[in-house]
Amino acid sequence: MDAFVIKGGKRLRGRVRVNGSKNSCLALMTAALLTDEPIVLLDVPNLRDTRNMANLLGTLGCEVEADSGRVQLKVTDRSQSLAHYDIVRTMRASVSVLGPLLAKRGAARVSMPGGCNIGDRPVDLHLRGLRSLGAKINLDQGYIVAEVPDGGRLLGARVFLGGAYGSTVLGTANVMSAATLARGTTVIEAAACEPEVVDLAQMLNAMGARINGAGTPRVVVEGVDELGGTQHRLMPDRIEAGTYIMAAAITNGEVMIENCPTDALTAVLDRLADVGVEVDPVDGDAGDQNGDPMRQTVRVGSHRRLDPVQVVTQPHPGFPTDLQAQIMALLCLADGNSIITEKIFPDRFLHVPELSRMGASMVRNGSSVLVSGVRKLIGAPVMASDLRASAGLVLAGLAADGVTTINRVYHLDRGYERMEVALAQLGADIERVDASV
Ligand code: EPU
Repeated sequence: MDAFVIKGGKRLRGRVRVNGSKNSCLALMTAALLTDEPIVLLDVPNLRDTRNMANLLGTLGCEVEADSGRVQLKVTDRSQSLAHYDIVRTMRASVSVLGPLLAKRGAARVSMPGGCNIGDRPVDLHLRGLRSLGAKINLDQGYIVAEVPDGGRLLGARVFLGGAYGSTVLGTANVMSAATLARGTTVIEAAACEPEVVDLAQMLNAMGARINGAGTPRVVVEGVDELGGTQHRLMPDRIEAGTYIMAAAITNGEVMIENCPTDALTAVLDRLADVGVEVDPVDGDAGDQNGDPMRQTVRVGSHRRLDPVQVVTQPHPGFPTDLQAQIMALLCLADGNSIITEKIFPDRFLHVPELSRMGASMVRNGSSVLVSGVRKLIGAPVMASDLRASAGLVLAGLAADGVTTINRVYHLDRGYERMEVALAQLGADIERVDASV
């Protein structure tokens, strides 16, 4: 099992390019099941999760060719509609095959995703949405068994996807994808507004779908008879971008970040501005793509003094839960008391005791954590528990005095492509070691 060994205290300097979005990629890959023509995705990050999704699609009759960031997917066999527990348990996003399989093949048997380190993650809204489109869904031996009655097509309907913690990103992706091939019009109310949903809708529309309103709480899908192939460049990963911005900030560094989806980071940049972190677009930079606010080059700089702030995670366009652990690491070094409240996954705090081992001062009360800034963090052996918690520990390690060893970085490898290489290029003293020997 790999670990990272970080000698903290180096100011990061230089340039880093943000990869294509992991979460966007996972949903977009499943859209290949909606057509027999090839789908080509560009800027695909080479991650455990994207490789897992490729394996899953392979078991569902999809040929996958991957070559340095370009992935082509083409269905050649539609006889299998089983998403096996062995794959689903490694990656919850596997549940995104449910909608496309139902819409195109009329049936699906998908393992029910199990427990997760970041808290309860039910799929009731996915199932409610697909049932509204006419699917018959039962649970059998831990599997979601779904079918369209009489081998027909799903039927457009009004679908409400609001839940206790807001809408659902992958649930919206599932229902929107399924509705593209339904008979009639589907109106999704309380749809997730995340940019990854917009990215998916753009690709589906390029395949021939008729989707309006993606990125707003009401998405309207007029069903079509069939979809074709397309080529699509993934949106940049807003969470990776936010992580590198905070890595620069926590080391008081100065970093240029290319392919930064600034437009998708408004709430993050708002909080960071109050902390004292400056993130400025660089006009006319070579890495800047025609002034596209989703693909900018930005310069990150920070004041030596970090101010405390309140952060509340919320559905987009609010502050993303996937950057909560990272901003917590940063606020551990702020000059005063910050409060972080988690409104998406109220138990997503496994990084709190690990940061405390590094000298952070925190008190958790329910879904909020009071972070009292300390003058310095102190390196320690710590345990990564999930993807974003690991990223928070890496940031803490970059700023800490002495050596931090982060065990179980396989969690991190699910969502960041060779993070240690990117950080080392920026001047961090970070090394991947095999900790199993
Ligand atoms: N929820 C329900 N019922 C459902 C679905 C969700 O109650 O049927 C609840 C969840 O328990 C949670 C809230 O609704 O409280 C939002 O969950 P959502 O369904 O939006 O999460 P997701 O679609 O399963 C995606 C990302 C997560 C990210 C969340 C929230 C992917 C592959 N995953 O998950 O990313 O945290 O949206 O933004 O897109 C990560 O990348 O580290 C990660 C966990």
